[in-house]
Amino acid sequence: MSFVVAIDGPAGTGKGTVTKIVAEKLNLVNVDTGAMYRSVTLKALENNIQPTETEKKKKMLQDISIELKDNNGVKQVLLDGKDVTEKIRTPKIDQNVSKFAQIAIVREKMTPLQRKMGETQNIIMEGRDIGTAVFPDADVKIYLDATSEERAKRRYKQNLEKGIKCTYEEVLKSIEERNKIDTTRKIAPLKKAEDAIYVDTTNLSIDEVVEKVCDIIVSKMGE
Ligand code: CDP
Repeated sequence: MSFVVAIDGPAGTGKGTVTKIVAEKLNLVNVDTGAMYRSVTLKALENNIQPTETEKKKKMLQDISIELKDNNGVKQVLLDGKDVTEKIRTPKIDQNVSKFAQIAIVREKMTPLQRKMGETQNIIMEGRDIGTAVFPDADVKIYLDATSEERAKRRYKQNLEKGIKCTYEEVLKSIEERNKIDTTRKIAPLKKAEDAIYVDTTNLSIDEVVEKVCDIIVSKMGE
């Protein structure tokens, strides 16, 4: 049996950064499920497929290939064999991803792929529905949170570092809109699993969150 750590929470809680560091420290395979929904969204936009066009979406999903690679600690996302690591992080994808992620056939395609990744290797998987829907029996479940203002501040800073032009207000609006769709959708909405440990990261540094998360996991590993 493999060991599964589920990390859920909204955008800007430091999920991506924290899981990457924790994975390295504890020798777990890091799986970013958001990158999978982002890749689906990129493919749909590149093919001019609207969230409402069911038949076109079905066809697109039939032969989609998404690979999450780790080249010596550098994460790489391949969509149909092409490197889309940067392309899936643009504001355009941010604005559209939740509309595609709420679609039943999209989730029905992604969830089994994610479960498969946890069958044979010890993983730390981050997303929105990992502790509630993908791995309801995960060994460890953690829910990371922070106020929306703090989350927008962090994402705004990240965007500037990447050279993405935006204002704080735009980022706050985009983060809140996305969160509204993610928490109110019918299938596998974002919510804290009853048995998940809640960590409020608003006033914590990345190092402090890493320490807390590692402590929680290590104590479970020892049980
Ligand atoms: O990096 P950030 O927190 O901004 O988002 P992400 O983890 O890359 O996820 C992008 C979007 O994918 C989310 O806003 C959700 O709409 C969707 N998602 C999901 O529905 N289920 C998951 N397990 C992961 C992401």
